[in-house]
Amino acid sequence: MTDPKALRNAFGAFATGVTVVTTRQPDGTPRGFTANSFTSVSLDPPLLLVCLAKTAHSADVFREAPHFAVNILSEDQKAVSGLFASRTPDKFQNCAWTPGPADMPLLDGALAQFTCAGHQIADAGDHLILIGRVEHFATAEGQPLGYFRGNYFSIGIEKDLAEAAAATKGSRLGAVLACSGGVLLKHTAKGLSLPLAPDPSLDSLTAKLTDLGLTPQIDFVYAAFDDRTTGGHAVYYHGTVTGPLPQGYRIVPLTDLGTAQIANAAEAAMLHRYASDFKNGSFSIYHGTETTGQTRQIGA
Ligand SMILES: Cc1cc2nc3c(=O)[nH]c(=O)nc-3n(C[C@H](O)[C@H](O)[C@H](O)COP(=O)(O)O)c2cc1C
Repeated sequence: MTDPKALRNAFGAFATGVTVVTTRQPDGTPRGFTANSFTSVSLDPPLLLVCLAKTAHSADVFREAPHFAVNILSEDQKAVSGLFASRTPDKFQNCAWTPGPADMPLLDGALAQFTCAGHQIADAGDHLILIGRVEHFATAEGQPLGYFRGNYFSIGIEKDLAEAAAATKGSRLGAVLACSGGVLLKHTAKGLSLPLAPDPSLDSLTAKLTDLGLTPQIDFVYAAFDDRTTGGHAVYYHGTVTGPLPQGYRIVPLTDLGTAQIANAAEAAMLHRYASDFKNGSFSIYHGTETTGQTRQIGA
């Protein structure tokens, strides 16, 4: 006999997003519950599924509903997830929502909303598998809310890191910017340096690059470390730039990064790593101090 608690913990090792599934009961009252069991199923026909506990208060309503909607929550909707996971009778009075196609309740601020016609219901142990045929959907920009082993997590670590850096005195924010087969570096009295933002914020970095006549595309945090030489945090983004080479800057080819005169030792180590990451076609994020730390692979 399987220990249900141990099994639940083991299932919880699968990190998911969080959704709120909504519908209307026959008298029009909106109903909804939080679910992380959402799965996309088929593109043709367009199908998705969500598993609903037979013990949920709304189980009978969903079993009979001709339509339902799935709202994928964004990282700032933790409270909405908590609200719809509760048995509060007035969930919809405590959040912002709008009636959408088929009059389904769609939650404001969701990352994606799918309105479905009921396609099939499978009886599966203590749950019902609701399979919906997508009739309408909408998506929005933003970061998702994550759920792992019973805790919420945010995938937007870049934002957190940048905010932490901005809040600490002596912090700096810079970028490793790929450009015409090399990396953009600035000439300084002590040697070459990576471009730094005047203030440690992403907006400030983007504004500075734009002022230099460049078009930046910043994509992910490449290194975040405590710099004991300045007593602050250092956060470096990775990105690309296009445009004419600004005065006082140079593009150092990847093959020359190992021998280039880089003024700051942490930046020199980072560029060394960048050249090998680029060769391997796989990037990693560095965190630690300016001399020792770990890298974690973040994708190709
Ligand atoms: C992050 C999270 C994910 C959940 N996922 C599911 C799920 O996939 N299926 C389910 O039946 N309940 C799930 N629940 C629990 C329900 O949201 C909860 O039982 C809720 O009270 C059901 O609402 P109702 O009783 O008003 O129908 C989840 C709860 C949380 C916090």
